[in-house]
Amino acid sequence: MLELANLAVDHGSQRALWDVSLEVREKELVGLLGANGAGKSTTLGAIIGLYPTVGGTVRYRGEDLAGRPTSRNVAAGIALVPEGRRLFGDMTVAENLAMGAYAPATRAGLAGALEQVYALFPILAEKQRQKAGELSGGQQQMVAIGRALASNPRLLLLDEPFIGVAPLLVEDILRVLRQIAAGGVTMLLVEQNIHRALDFVQRAYVIENGRTVLEGTREALISNPEFNNKFLGLD
Ligand SMILES: Nc1ncnc2c1ncn2[C@@H]1O[C@H](COP(=O)(O)OP(=O)(O)OP(=O)(O)O)[C@@H](O)[C@H]1O
Ligand SMILES: [Mg+2]
Repeated sequence: MLELANLAVDHGSQRALWDVSLEVREKELVGLLGANGAGKSTTLGAIIGLYPTVGGTVRYRGEDLAGRPTSRNVAAGIALVPEGRRLFGDMTVAENLAMGAYAPATRAGLAGALEQVYALFPILAEKQRQKAGELSGGQQQMVAIGRALASNPRLLLLDEPFIGVAPLLVEDILRVLRQIAAGGVTMLLVEQNIHRALDFVQRAYVIENGRTVLEGTREALISNPEFNNKFLGLD
């Protein structure tokens, strides 16, 4: 479904990604792991078209995404839950959710999309008229996920969705993500907590200094000494 080959991306005059290659198959749950500054967020941003690529290719459902605007990628079924949530704190929960359905194709289905989000996260229905900035970290993350779902994605890119989320809500959110995955949505998850990530995904890639350096199924990674040296024991 998604295929990155030798992707390179610059931030200004600085190279952020040198050589990122990965593949996500339809309905797969895949992790993208790596240290701070490794290039995880840049990779997700490049996929959805926030950053231009300077080398390599991004292919999604057989099409080359090079140079395509983010709006077109969203319309094609890619949605990003960005690092740090990026909500409009002074706008209501409902208004934030509606931002996810601004594309003409999804706007018509907004009411239905909101209903679905409220069914997944009932607390958001209760708080729909409250300002997003007044919600707890976990509830704000639910809004960020709900906003992504409002565009009716086939491929959901999640950038550290559990940062600043209380443990109890982490479990709630994981349950909902599993439900969404069971409904056929493919996911690429960036996560700092390696144990939590490997609990959720079927396969993962490790990115280091802008390069994918390791790849494997959950089982293969857990028993890989190189992977263990890099990560396990860190969290
Ligand atoms: N907007 C930007 N302008 C300039 N440099 C950037 C920008 N965003 C990221 N970088 C740099 O690009 C590299 C990759 O950053 P990126 O945010 O993709 O890493 P990350 O793996 O998501 O890290 P973290 O775990 O801290 O979120 C880093 O060296 C970072 O400093
Ligand atoms: Mg990041």
